[in-house]
Parts: sequence; C-alpha cells; structure tokens
Amino acid sequence: MAKEIVLTGITTSGTPHLGNYIGAVRPAIETSRNDNVSAYYFLADYHALIKNQDPKLVKESSKEVAATWLAMGLDTERSTFYRQSDIPEITELTWLLTCVTAKGLMNRAHAYKAAVDQNEAAKTNDPDKGITMGLFCYPVLMAADILMFNANKVPVGKDQVQHLEMARDIAGRFNHIYRKQFFALPEAVVDEDTAVLSGLDGRKMSKSYNNTIPLFVTEKKLRKLIMKIKTNSLEPGEPKETEGCTLFEIFQAFASKEEAADVAGRYAEGIGWGEMKNFLFEYLNEHLKGPRARYEELIASPDYIEETLKKGAEKARAHSVPFLQELRAAVGIQPIS
Ligand code: TRP
Repeated sequence: MAKEIVLTGITTSGTPHLGNYIGAVRPAIETSRNDNVSAYYFLADYHALIKNQDPKLVKESSKEVAATWLAMGLDTERSTFYRQSDIPEITELTWLLTCVTAKGLMNRAHAYKAAVDQNEAAKTNDPDKGITMGLFCYPVLMAADILMFNANKVPVGKDQVQHLEMARDIAGRFNHIYRKQFFALPEAVVDEDTAVLSGLDGRKMSKSYNNTIPLFVTEKKLRKLIMKIKTNSLEPGEPKETEGCTLFEIFQAFASKEEAADVAGRYAEGIGWGEMKNFLFEYLNEHLKGPRARYEELIASPDYIEETLKKGAEKARAHSVPFLQELRAAVGIQPIS
C-alpha cells in the first residue's frame, strides 16, 4: 500500500516556545517515525511575510525554527524537511489555484473576517484598511503547499481547520474544471489529546500574548521565566488543585504518567509554589539540556542548516517539478509546437 502522506507547515515568524514544541514539533517528529507515513514538514516562510515585514526577523526565525526541529531529533532522511521558498513550483501552483478559487470563498475566511470586523469596530470608513492581498489570499498559498504533495493528512491547530476545508474546495474545483483527479482531497488532523500549554500569565502560550517561554533560552533565563509564572495565592501547606495550574500543566506535558501522578500527590499535600517552581525548573532544564546544546551547535553552523534544507528541497522537487509540468499542460500552458 502507498504510504499515507502527512504534511504540515510552520510559519517562520518567531522563536519556538514550549507550546510550539508540545503542540506541534513533538507530535510531528513522532509521526515521522511511523513506517506507514511519508512526512513532509516545511518552513512556511512566504506565509511569514504576511504578518512580518522585518527581513531580519524572517531570516532569523527560519534559522531558529529549522534548528529547533533538527535539535529535537527530526530525522531528515526519513522525512522531507524543506523551506517553502526553495520550491518555486509552490508559488506557481498558487496562481493556477487562484484562478479557480471563488473570491466569495476567501471572503468567508475567519482571519480575513476578523480583520474586517476590527476595522468596523474601530469605525474606520474602510473595512479593508491595512488588509493586504497576502492576508486575503493566504488560504490559496496554503492550499498550494498541501496539494502540491497530495497530502492526505494535515496536522494543524483548530484555527486552521477552515483553511483545510478551503483547500479541499479548491482541489475539487480544479479537478472538476480540468477533468482529472489531479489532487487528493486533504484532511485536517486536530489532535484533541495534544496539550495546549498556558503561558506566563495563564492565558494560552502564544507569541501574540507575549507570554511565552522560549524552548532554548539559557539556564538562567529559563529559571527566571519559570519564577514568573502566575499562580494563585495559596500558602505552602494548603492543598492545591492541579487542574488549571500552569506549572502542573507544563510539567505534565514533559513528564511520564507516574511522575505526573507523583507530583499531583504533592499538590494534595500542599507543596509551596516556590518549591514547585524550583522543581519544574530543574526538571525542564534536565530535559532540555541535551537538545539545547545541539541547538546552540546548529545555530553556530548555519551552513549545515542550509545544506540540510537544500537537500530537503531537492527531495521535494523530485516530485514538484514534474507534477507542476503536468498541471501546466493540463491548463494549456505548454510549448506551442
Ligand atoms: N497556516 C499554518 C499556521 O499558521 C501554517 C501553514 C502554512 C500550514 N502552510 C501550511 C500548515 C500547510 C499546514 C499545511 O499554522
């Protein structure tokens, strides 16, 4: 049987944090170890341009994201790990898809609608104020990422489910107009069991809330950040709930079941917040030490990262170049003679 194609993209618009690791990187690396799966993971650097127009940050983030995946153990022989911008066929496919995509479909995109709502709430007289065509057409570029490799399963967060529906819709339109099943219809995979971590202030850990704990900060900085995590005002000796406690949540995401049960016991006995913070720091630090050293080594060897991405692009293009050729012929973009 043909292997199932699993594909996901990582927007390169920030420094990876604990929430990214637990929610996306770790499960993706696990999936890539499954023999029945052919995994495609890529840096969505063209997507990053939509939110980020600081060239230094875009470049830096690509390096950091790539180094994170490699440091955490992604096997680039087994999987195909590449950078979107190294595959020009993806942007070419974006145009072919754009020409079959209903504008009305894009009008309904949550991210676009939210931006319009914000403008309306702010009583600006232009509902499209500050909205670029990049933001508006974001789902088409994402569809091209997915359809280019005929992905079957696309692991994403809940907020991306609509984009997958759009990718299916666009694939179906193209297949219908050009009378062939060029594209497989992809499915979103939203893993409800994957932990969503809270950040320093107790809200979901997210760059946009500025409450993250970066995965590879120095030991000193890691300690400092953990000490900043918000807790309630219960005193040492008072029994505490694990439910809704950010410290416990983060610990549990890294710990074994037994370890988590053990610490839950200490909560019931009234462990003090200071003690728990120290414990969490020691535990995380122990777990992150090895990967952190590898990460630092990688960051110091950009040539190695570049070479790894280039090899990934070569693998990806072995498929995308002939496939795009076929698609161009299908729409009538062909040599004249
Ligand atoms: N839009 C995705 C996100 O913000 C990133 C992304 C870009 C992606 N292209 C993709 C995810 C293709 C899955 C498949 O998380």
